[in-house]
Amino acid sequence: MLFSDLTINDKEPIYIQIKRYLEDMISKGLLPHNSKLPSTRELSLLLNVSRNSILAAYEELKLDGIVYSVSGKGTFVKCNNNINNSNWKVNWRNFENDYIKTTNEMDIIKNEIKWKSGQISFKSIAPDGELFDMEELKKSFLNRFNLEGHKLLNYGYAQGYKPLIDYLHNYMNKKGVDTSNKDILMVNGFTEGLNLIISTLTTKGDYILCENPTHNTSIKVMKSHGLNLIPVSINENGLDFEDLSEKLEKYKDKIKFSYITPSYHNPTGMVMSPENRYKFYNLMKKYNIPIIEDGFNEELLYSSSHIFPICSLDNKSNGVIYIGSFSKILFPGLRIGWLLADKSLINSLESVKRATTIHVSFLDQGILYDYLQNSAFEKYIKKTRKYYGDKFNFALKCVKKYIKAEHVLGDGGLHLFLILKNINSRKLLEECYKKDVIFMPGDLFYVDDKGENTLRLGFSRLSNEDIEKGIKIIGQTIDELNS
Ligand SMILES: Cc1ncc(COP(=O)(O)O)c(C=O)c1O
Repeated sequence: MLFSDLTINDKEPIYIQIKRYLEDMISKGLLPHNSKLPSTRELSLLLNVSRNSILAAYEELKLDGIVYSVSGKGTFVKCNNNINNSNWKVNWRNFENDYIKTTNEMDIIKNEIKWKSGQISFKSIAPDGELFDMEELKKSFLNRFNLEGHKLLNYGYAQGYKPLIDYLHNYMNKKGVDTSNKDILMVNGFTEGLNLIISTLTTKGDYILCENPTHNTSIKVMKSHGLNLIPVSINENGLDFEDLSEKLEKYKDKIKFSYITPSYHNPTGMVMSPENRYKFYNLMKKYNIPIIEDGFNEELLYSSSHIFPICSLDNKSNGVIYIGSFSKILFPGLRIGWLLADKSLINSLESVKRATTIHVSFLDQGILYDYLQNSAFEKYIKKTRKYYGDKFNFALKCVKKYIKAEHVLGDGGLHLFLILKNINSRKLLEECYKKDVIFMPGDLFYVDDKGENTLRLGFSRLSNEDIEKGIKIIGQTIDELNS
């Protein structure tokens, strides 16, 4: 506290000692410009000296131009101390490492065309918030909060909320996955799950085999860690196994992982057939390349029965890391996903989770668990399948009617992927932007410089009217560019 370290001696006049003390405090910046000094009465009481001594000290300081008085208000510090007045300018650019540089360069939110109010945007593949079951979720919140609010608001376990983990074991069992030698770690969505694996199980310069095109955020996660991506083509028939075999032969000893999205692949929307899932799994097993399986929106199948995830072929083996997410089937804002993998690997990753974000919010996990375990989830899935299924069929019909595309890909999900003939989709986007329609240029999803004639159309948050209007404009613009 100010003045607590001032000891008055009897060798010098008191006012000189007080003046020197205040000068010292001001020069060190401990009494900033315009700060108010204690009143003479307060200070005389505090220091147990006469008020005249304080008055004399303040007068001397005033004469030196270090303090000033405002009638009826008091005495204030007046300092032109460099420490206080000059700006501190750190050049943070100089601190940036390759990780932050790459994430910034690849940040499409910052670097790509932005939506303007009134435009029809096919950019997003986020769920339609209007469908969210607000009443049921509110009930789950109140119920869980009443039952164990104190527990949920306190620190929890890094692995996750046990009832939710148990629920997910059961959920994966129902998908045909044998989880007996595996365990689950709760993560903040798919993206954190992938980042956890990549940042702990790979080192800069490692090789990862991935579909081309693939999820742009996954490309960003892998590239920001300095990994080399080996692209395997996807064409209108799905994964190109010939290309895969060539790449396996060429890079076989170098490849650390393969990353694959077998259901409603982003951006193509394709679903890998059961035969190809076996084929892919067996190839990876043969070459001893562990699989990172992205199961992000498996549930959104409209036209056929559920297809087993690749990790269900792994049974008692441990070669597949499955990453699940509730971002498309439920609420992306909750940021809840899970990693299902070998028990000892999950045990190690649990420590990483504890060392980074400690755990996923227990309150969020508790509410989600409550919501999932009553019948609301089943009802919601049924409702969304029908809703998005109708939208998917409608968007597909419009694309076929209005757009001359070489191939239209997509078996379900929340988007369609178009391969155009002789059209540069960046040029197309530029022209469509002028007509207030935007979409995702496909090159963003390629790990090489391909895809300039492709685009992704996300329709989940658009009305049928806007879907038709927007697709018609895209079709007309293609015709204009072709003419
Ligand atoms: C291929 C893919 N995986 C996963 C996700 C979900 O990521 P998250 O759970 O981090 O929201 C998305 C979202 O668009 C995606 O496209």
